[in-house]
Amino acid sequence: MTIYLRTALASTLIFSLQGCGSYAKLKILGPNKTLGNVASAEPLGETDANSKAVPMAISLASFKTNIYQPILIPYCTSCHQTTFASSDIAAAHSAFLARVDLTKFDGVDKSLPVVKMKQGHNCWDATAKTCVTTMTDKMSLWLADLAKGGFTPTVSTYANLSSEVAMATTGIPTSLPIPDDYSAAGIDKAMLAAPFTKDSNDIDGPIKTYATSPIATVALAKANNAQAITFTLNAKSAGTYFVWARVKTPTSASKQFFVQANGKDTVPFLLPVTGSEWKWFQVMKTVNKVEGPYSFVAAAGAQSIKILFSQGGTSINQVVITTRSDFNGELFSTPYYDVSVPLTIPGVTGASLIATVWQNSTDVGKKSIGVKHLKISSPVPLHIKGIYPLLNGAYNANQSSYKQIDAVAGGTDATKSFITSPDDAAAIWLADYAADKLSFGFDVLEVAK
Ligand code: HEC
Repeated sequence: MTIYLRTALASTLIFSLQGCGSYAKLKILGPNKTLGNVASAEPLGETDANSKAVPMAISLASFKTNIYQPILIPYCTSCHQTTFASSDIAAAHSAFLARVDLTKFDGVDKSLPVVKMKQGHNCWDATAKTCVTTMTDKMSLWLADLAKGGFTPTVSTYANLSSEVAMATTGIPTSLPIPDDYSAAGIDKAMLAAPFTKDSNDIDGPIKTYATSPIATVALAKANNAQAITFTLNAKSAGTYFVWARVKTPTSASKQFFVQANGKDTVPFLLPVTGSEWKWFQVMKTVNKVEGPYSFVAAAGAQSIKILFSQGGTSINQVVITTRSDFNGELFSTPYYDVSVPLTIPGVTGASLIATVWQNSTDVGKKSIGVKHLKISSPVPLHIKGIYPLLNGAYNANQSSYKQIDAVAGGTDATKSFITSPDDAAAIWLADYAADKLSFGFDVLEVAK
């Protein structure tokens, strides 16, 4: 279904991304650039084979009052009028059943409509959480009516199940070192002058201190060299160097420094407001009204980078200089967790699958974890085919790429432990690291032949 939809979309519609509250909102523009309609190759009104056992009259009546009229018609018709938000209610109902798929049901929480709301997909409210809760509650009312009508969905089962572990109590924190191409220094190694002071009360990541100044300190429009944090960084070779810093800018009155390299060029370091978050930004410079990356030319050896006071309450934790233009600091400030899930394989003791994950987002209603890679710890190599990551026992179709895996991993050679390549682009799972439990099902899990 999704494939048909994507194909139809790709050929007829133009996408544009538009900000919507804190989430990116997908808006579809037709060829004439007016708001279009999500086309579908799925024939209208076709009854899904999976829904035969569902008591259709009960389902339709409950769908109408609980889901169709209060949610789908007001909020989804503009784009989904050819499927589940069709003006033909019978067609909308069968399209909705096809998406929920009651023959492989892992709970309302993992059903496609709720998952879409968790992704912040066209939420009608300012917070995605309202949409997640509303969709969950209304679908639960519909399922309760089906249950009263004598119907319960079929729950999926998975073969070769592993143990189930609570991620937060099992994960062992690890962090990535900043590679040699970059010269990094934390505030722990810097020299501070007033009004800057060191603090450590709200920082994540490997370096546990930062510098800040009292919010009430009078802002300076011009750099004052006496009010500085001085970092000494080592340039490995002569070259043109860019500068990045990890900062926190709580308000529009606390979002500025000046930056000075080797006592020369002083540039304002104007930042967006990050609120309570720590983020990496590159130091920029405006020349003839055009903003570009700030750089300085250095010989090999020690470089003095000064962060000068401008606005009280702006905080800084690390500085990086590099000749490379593609630094991604978030990678190095993120704590990763190795979550080890014990496997059950006849004749093998102590085998486990280790998922290296990080907490991707803690936005309300949009909890997710990033998955860096999966690897096997086992005394003997294992043959693994078709992996189903289960969160609280439920499988989610947005983890489907792992179904394709067919690999041999594990054994005494540590370099052969990876199932997914350590360099692969990471996956995102909708999961709450703090609360959810992780387990795995496998099509094949056996000692490699
Ligand atoms: C502004 C247009 C727009 C609105 C409004 C909109 N959607 Fe979507 N929807 C899309 C597009 C485009 C896709 C395909 C890309 C994707 O999967 O995100 C899609 C895909 C989906 C899918 C997965 C594909 C499918 O056909 O099943 C679901 C489920 C979905 N939307 C649910 C909803 C619900 C529920 C609402 C109303 C609360 C809604 N959408 C409102 C544009 C929209």
